[in-house]
Amino acid sequence: MRLRRPLALTLLGLILTAPFVLGFSPVAGRHAMVASSESHATDAGVEILRAGGNAVDAAVAVGFALAVTHPFAGNIGGGGFMLVRLATGESAFIDYREAAPSAATHNMYLDPAGNLIPDASLVGALASGVPGTVAGLALAEQKYGKVGLARVMEPAIRLASDGFEVSYDLARGLRGESQKLGKFGESRRIFLRDGTFYEAGETFRQPKLAHTLTLIAAQGADAFYRGPIADQIAASMEKNHGIISRADLAQYQAKIRTPLVGHFRGFTILSAPPPSSGGVGLFEMLNILEPLDLGAPDSYSSMHLMIEAMRRAYADRAEYLGDADFVTVPVAGLTSKDYAAKLRGEMLAAKPDAPLQAGQPVPYESSTTTHYSVVDAEGNAVSNTYTLNAGYGSGLTVEGAGFLLNDEMDDFAAKPGSPNLFGLVQGEANSIAPRKRPLSSMTPTIVLQDQPGGQPALRLVLGSPGGGTIINTVLEVLLNVAVFHMDAQQAVTAPRFHNQWLPDVVVIEKSISEDTADRLQQAGYKLRRVGGIGDCEAVEVDPATGWRFGASDPRGDGKAAGY
Ligand code: DON
Repeated sequence: MRLRRPLALTLLGLILTAPFVLGFSPVAGRHAMVASSESHATDAGVEILRAGGNAVDAAVAVGFALAVTHPFAGNIGGGGFMLVRLATGESAFIDYREAAPSAATHNMYLDPAGNLIPDASLVGALASGVPGTVAGLALAEQKYGKVGLARVMEPAIRLASDGFEVSYDLARGLRGESQKLGKFGESRRIFLRDGTFYEAGETFRQPKLAHTLTLIAAQGADAFYRGPIADQIAASMEKNHGIISRADLAQYQAKIRTPLVGHFRGFTILSAPPPSSGGVGLFEMLNILEPLDLGAPDSYSSMHLMIEAMRRAYADRAEYLGDADFVTVPVAGLTSKDYAAKLRGEMLAAKPDAPLQAGQPVPYESSTTTHYSVVDAEGNAVSNTYTLNAGYGSGLTVEGAGFLLNDEMDDFAAKPGSPNLFGLVQGEANSIAPRKRPLSSMTPTIVLQDQPGGQPALRLVLGSPGGGTIINTVLEVLLNVAVFHMDAQQAVTAPRFHNQWLPDVVVIEKSISEDTADRLQQAGYKLRRVGGIGDCEAVEVDPATGWRFGASDPRGDGKAAGY
């Protein structure tokens, strides 16, 4: 039958906005759920949960599996943050961010004339901070896990030694970074097969990485920081003019910190403290927006208000944020409701996109990355974001050990005031110093729904990669659930936008409507359209029924699975 034109148009409209309007539901599970950016890694987490592991066991399993199957960002040569919230209400933030080597200096990436040396903080051995992932995952397992490091590492070791099927995304990613990876013999051999690129459907085996993982499973983190792997890292550093020493490795420690806690419209939110800027930025924006009527999602009115909140939080990020073990970060002031009220007043009085500088936080008394989320049957939750920084990190593989090293040193302000890889302008608070941890935007977050007269209930576990865009992605997905009442999959799928103060441009996904884009432009915003922002992997819990809903971002190649 020939459709009448108006109906045909309506159907076309529905199809074009399909992920948002039609089906495309989150994955439902009665007991437990894992969402990660790679399917074998998600399966590794589910395997451990089914074998009696808790959410932390599963999270550690996913972390090691991603190091095998998602070398773009999954790693043992990088670092990150794990936010744990147990069903008992206890929570912890495991900071396993890379640290600057002890020989690092303030101006190490500048030439004698004071100019940035191109790529020095991005490619090769000098770009790497002391890796934290193995220390962080081992600490999480020892403190909160049930089944032990050897068991949770089994899936990763199997994937490395038996191999796994190369996905379209992995094949394309490796080829896309062939210039960087091709600079280093071991990387060229393992990841580029000396120029015979891996094709989708082929099997990728990594025997050296399997051996490295087996050593860690048997000997714990000491194998990496004091034993044979430390020797291999030190040898690769010497050969490639890097500065990470055996002493740097032996001294590295993952740190347990207290998560930042914020409150927003009946939700209690746990998020990342320094050396991440994520929690501070997220709470500053939520506080500014809290009493405002945001209207409809992706409308001019909601976007304008959110963009103005983003500009203010990112201006403050540039000025004040750094590793709080080295510099004083006014966390309480920046996240106070009073400071937000002051910023909100100024924001509502100003024209859109009016020039602004970092604010003066009110003094306060007292006080290429990948994300995955896990919830287990008891209600324990883990939100983990970790990274090599750029895709495939520094490009340098530790010889004989089969894993890539990070280029996290680029997250420092190599020259305060000059933009980094993500265009983020940062200040002296984030300058380089020995052992200091570079400022991050990674924002692993857990949202609890306040219950009248009771303990808050677990509601949403989320996070994303995306460099400087991460904090805004978390903000938007969180608001989509908390304010716009979307389900987890709708919230993760909905169009995204981003502003980071400098450069003075609003990045919007192509799926934002022309109408809205026109109005933003008329108001004075400079727009840049992009294909996709972030890769949010989320798990939502329905507090009334306990059902878990996993949502993997359609912008990525991930998978949510549970039972
Ligand atoms: O810690 C950070 O903020 C960055 N190193 C994250 C890098 C990232 O998200 C790359 N992925 N797109």
